[in-house]
Amino acid sequence: MSDPMPSDLAAVETPALVVDLDRLDANLSRAADYAASHGLALRPHVKTHKSPFVAAAQLRLGAKGLTCATPREVEVMSEVSDDVLLAYPPVGRARARRIAALPESVRLIVALDSEQAASELARAARDARREIGVYVELDLGMHRVGTPTVDAAVAVARYVTECDGLTFEGLAFYPGHIRQRMSEQDAALETLDTGLARALERFHEAGLPPRVVSGGSTPTLWRTHEVPGVTEIRPGTYVFNDRQTVATGACGWDDCALTILATVVSTAVPGQAVIDAGTKALGREPVRGVEGEGFGQVLEHPEVLVSRMSEEHGVLDLGESDWQPVVGERVRVVPNHVCIVVHLHDLVYGMRGDTIHSSWPIAARGRGQIPV
Ligand SMILES: Cc1ncc(COP(=O)(O)O)c(C=O)c1O
Repeated sequence: MSDPMPSDLAAVETPALVVDLDRLDANLSRAADYAASHGLALRPHVKTHKSPFVAAAQLRLGAKGLTCATPREVEVMSEVSDDVLLAYPPVGRARARRIAALPESVRLIVALDSEQAASELARAARDARREIGVYVELDLGMHRVGTPTVDAAVAVARYVTECDGLTFEGLAFYPGHIRQRMSEQDAALETLDTGLARALERFHEAGLPPRVVSGGSTPTLWRTHEVPGVTEIRPGTYVFNDRQTVATGACGWDDCALTILATVVSTAVPGQAVIDAGTKALGREPVRGVEGEGFGQVLEHPEVLVSRMSEEHGVLDLGESDWQPVVGERVRVVPNHVCIVVHLHDLVYGMRGDTIHSSWPIAARGRGQIPV
């Protein structure tokens, strides 16, 4: 039998994930209001929270559907949403068959950039006797996935229209290369705008007008309306935010909803304190795109950074601080990249003020592969 839920943080074993529910609510509402006020459909990416609990709140606030990266996320999220996008190439028979096996009541869309992926997906759709929607992924600067040219994207879209089992729904791109401060994004957004306008023109000329143009990220979230043609946004990180998001100006320090609760386990070495959150609790992501050192920042003492880590040890650099931590003291660390951190834990504690209000499992973490 599991222990009853602790009533306050002092009773929680560390390291543990703690979410300020008021901040989470505010973050969810802000993005929902932004999308509604600009006529954009919101299809949040669940890779940040991996939780049906948070996804249900996003849907209650008007999200059209959800975006996933893994078959596991698709399966778990189909329990709360009947409209799910897999924004990841469905390459490999096992992956294609697994997602095609979703309940038929769930509208499934998949983003892809090759005829091979479309062909595998079409076969899985036919075998499962269902229709799967397709967004053709276009590279507009991220250089990760997506066809490098518009003509190649048109060719993939045309191929999709010829595949039984698939329906061409629209275009997808991910502006993940835009990580500079919001105020410095003008040139990058203009390039994006030009590239997208050219793509839309070609798709119309080819007789394949996309019904949906799906883009969006957290660093560009509040400026999406400056890129005409986008109809749907897929921000993920905005639910919790993190040091990286603060650095881009897409949120403030007080909008960081998730922290890692940790305990000071040693102050033996002068000038530093060691907490029980190392790489296996915090990840090892640098702050990218903008300046920023360390692997996390102490909420209560923002001048203190996690400067070094081992697997279970995080070293707090006290060089810039008057704070004199004692062994057993608790701190909350704002992570650099919250999505990686969530994925490393099993459970989240939700706080209202100083009281633990709820807890929920990170249900869609891991791969959910079936043992043979
Ligand atoms: C395809 C895709 N869409 C949307 C997102 C969400 O971006 P962000 O976390 O910046 O909100 C991601 C993030 O990795 C992504 O890979």
